[in-house]
Amino acid sequence: MKILVVGGGGREHALCWKIARSPLVEKVWCAPGNGGIAKVAECVPIGVEDFARLEAFCREQRVDLVVVGPEAPLCLGLTDALQAAGIKVFGPSRLAAEIEGSKAFCRELCRRHHIPSPQSWTFSDLATALAFLEGHRDERLVVKASGLAAGKGVLVCDDYDSARKAVASCLESGAFGAAGSQIVIEEFLEGDEVSMLALCDGRTIVPLESAKDHKRSLEGDKGPNTGGMGAISPAPAANPRTIKHVESQVLVQAIHAMVQEGRPYRGILYAGLMVTPLGPRVLEFNARFGDPEAQPLLMRFESDLVPFLVAAADGSLDKLESGPTWDARPAACVVAVSGGYPEAYSTGFEIHGLDDVEEDDDLVVFHSGTTRKPDGTILTAGGRVLSVTAKAKTVRAALDRCYAALDKISFQGMRYRRDIGQR
Ligand code: AMP
Ligand code: GLY
Repeated sequence: MKILVVGGGGREHALCWKIARSPLVEKVWCAPGNGGIAKVAECVPIGVEDFARLEAFCREQRVDLVVVGPEAPLCLGLTDALQAAGIKVFGPSRLAAEIEGSKAFCRELCRRHHIPSPQSWTFSDLATALAFLEGHRDERLVVKASGLAAGKGVLVCDDYDSARKAVASCLESGAFGAAGSQIVIEEFLEGDEVSMLALCDGRTIVPLESAKDHKRSLEGDKGPNTGGMGAISPAPAANPRTIKHVESQVLVQAIHAMVQEGRPYRGILYAGLMVTPLGPRVLEFNARFGDPEAQPLLMRFESDLVPFLVAAADGSLDKLESGPTWDARPAACVVAVSGGYPEAYSTGFEIHGLDDVEEDDDLVVFHSGTTRKPDGTILTAGGRVLSVTAKAKTVRAALDRCYAALDKISFQGMRYRRDIGQR
């Protein structure tokens, strides 16, 4: 098979790395890819939103399957466009991807179909939102831009003042542009976070193992939200009871809900959950693998991934003989970011020490934002730069391998959290 992966981050590096190991696969391309992906796939310089050129490439190269990594092209309808041209795609349609692209839609969906969620309220008008805050002065609230904001549009507000500021930043100063012209305000939930992902083919789900992301920028879960600073799999809070509950009450429920809403869901459905004393609650749905959760998850996924991707795209997951097998050992991933991220940062700095890291099946440096110069030098090219991922007997041992590798790597302004995997 010939497979094209769309995207150019750590998640896509992990996808290309995993797909390239499949005996069914003769060729992997990645559009646009990055400096690290070039080691496992051929990078083609086509942007993820350049639908016409992606389609032309698939036709010319007779691509058998397109795997879409990021949410932006999914929400713009890349799956629909390629499918209309007769190309097989792993990833939800535009309407189905709205489960991530519109937090307001996601909340309505949960309400209509009794999917356990925090209390929430949707606003587009500043005065109405401020009046609402006035009536909820003493509550801890979370203010979210409804549209896509690269993981940065969620503002956890400790008091009335910060909630007012968050609301004004979205609805008055336009901090998140059109994505923040509608907001969702939610009750703040306390508990342990868990990410549960499932492969979906419209009717059937194949749940993956659990993972836990670390979204805050600074150690001790302080600082602003980011795309993700690190992840571990399995998630400490995911006991068998919680997992069963999430599978039946959240994932299966959501798949049925999407059919009823006329938006059958194919691809990866990602539920970000807070496990509260009253049970798990959905914080968000994403329409794709998480980044960086994909890195530890795919490292632990022992089976060939490709038959699962094809069956999800074909609507035949129920025909597979068995579910995937998993490496029982835990995996961890630590993301190194550019100084300043998630706010403004500079790029173009040389990354040193990559050759000193000994990679093997249990340790891989997945590149997130890098480019490779013709002379082989690797430069930083994004906020999240690379994500070192390792698996070992214990989470601690996996993390020790990640941090030992990071000790050897350096670039100007490099920063990472030292407390990934700690509760
Ligand atoms: P989201 O992108 O909606 O998952 O939000 C990003 C992060 O903000 C989550 O991983 C949580 O850490 C935090 N968060 C979001 N919604 C809530 C909530 N209702 N209560 C507490 N924390 C939340
Ligand atoms: N790491 C969280 C996300 O991909 O949305």
